[in-house]
Amino acid sequence: WTNMKIALLGYGTVGRGVDKIIGERVDDVEVSRILELPDRLSDPRMTSEYEDIVSDPEIGIVVECMGGIEPAHAFIMRALEAGKHVVTSNKAVVAAHFAEFAACALEHGVSLFIEASVGGGIPWIAGIEKARRVDEVTSFSGIMNGTTNYIVYAMLKDGADFGEVLAEAQSLGYAERDPSADIDGIDVKNKTIITASVAFDVACEKDIPVSGIRNLTKADLDLFGERGLTVKLLGRGVQQDSRYAVAVEPVAVPLDSLEANVPGNFNLVTLDATTVGELKFYGQGAGSLPTGNAIVQDVLDCVRGTRAPEYDFSRGLAYDPELLRASYV
Ligand code: HSE
Repeated sequence: WTNMKIALLGYGTVGRGVDKIIGERVDDVEVSRILELPDRLSDPRMTSEYEDIVSDPEIGIVVECMGGIEPAHAFIMRALEAGKHVVTSNKAVVAAHFAEFAACALEHGVSLFIEASVGGGIPWIAGIEKARRVDEVTSFSGIMNGTTNYIVYAMLKDGADFGEVLAEAQSLGYAERDPSADIDGIDVKNKTIITASVAFDVACEKDIPVSGIRNLTKADLDLFGERGLTVKLLGRGVQQDSRYAVAVEPVAVPLDSLEANVPGNFNLVTLDATTVGELKFYGQGAGSLPTGNAIVQDVLDCVRGTRAPEYDFSRGLAYDPELLRASYV
């Protein structure tokens, strides 16, 4: 193959990570255009006109890392309609429009790659896809948000105060622009919807139960600690007998469990599948280079033809929130 030209939509924490990794480590891919705001055009590759990108026949892959629903949704649809593959780290837009993007990609014979939208640098989506080639994924569960894990871990280990550690997580570039998306569980909700869609092959229900950790105090953690437990914000999903359920909530876990000991911005996600059994994936769930790495892996799978995800959500599973409640014993 010759050099693949790609475009980045957005040049924030993730976009910069992708540009750096490709510039320093990948010879056969070139970031030829970058979409940026008109007052931030600091590089000759930058443009504020999406038309310059979507109508450029040399650009084969559009990498969307701008975040938010619009205009990301409109830009992704136009790229797919123009016959360009799309790689995105944007969990909000994928959670909201996964089925629409997937149908459009299938119609236009291109692929949608979403690895970086869940679990930062962890090959979680590809891991689920691989498990599903052979198995049914019967459940998943995990720490999917680095910011809240960073907060809860520091509260547990250092006796730190909620607000103080939130500010630290923000300064390290883990937090969402509006950190309420982290602490109220919205970021995990998006990641849980995406995970369930891939794991269970359904256009996942959007109105799922969500509780965050805004009101978690040091006193709560001390109380759990006396019982050998701590609290982690988990995204969870289960399927059984043509039904599935998903939820986001703080869950008490034993202090000696792997989950309790996940530090800093790390994520730990677990799936259970028919023949492979339990698999745990651990790694950096946020940050410029880990998330940039997940995007670059998707770009390389696309360029080299080693993976071309096709999501059609053909399973007719019914959503039944009671199913998850029944799994707490
Ligand atoms: N705010 C997210 C987190 C970023 O803290 O995990 C990565 O999706």
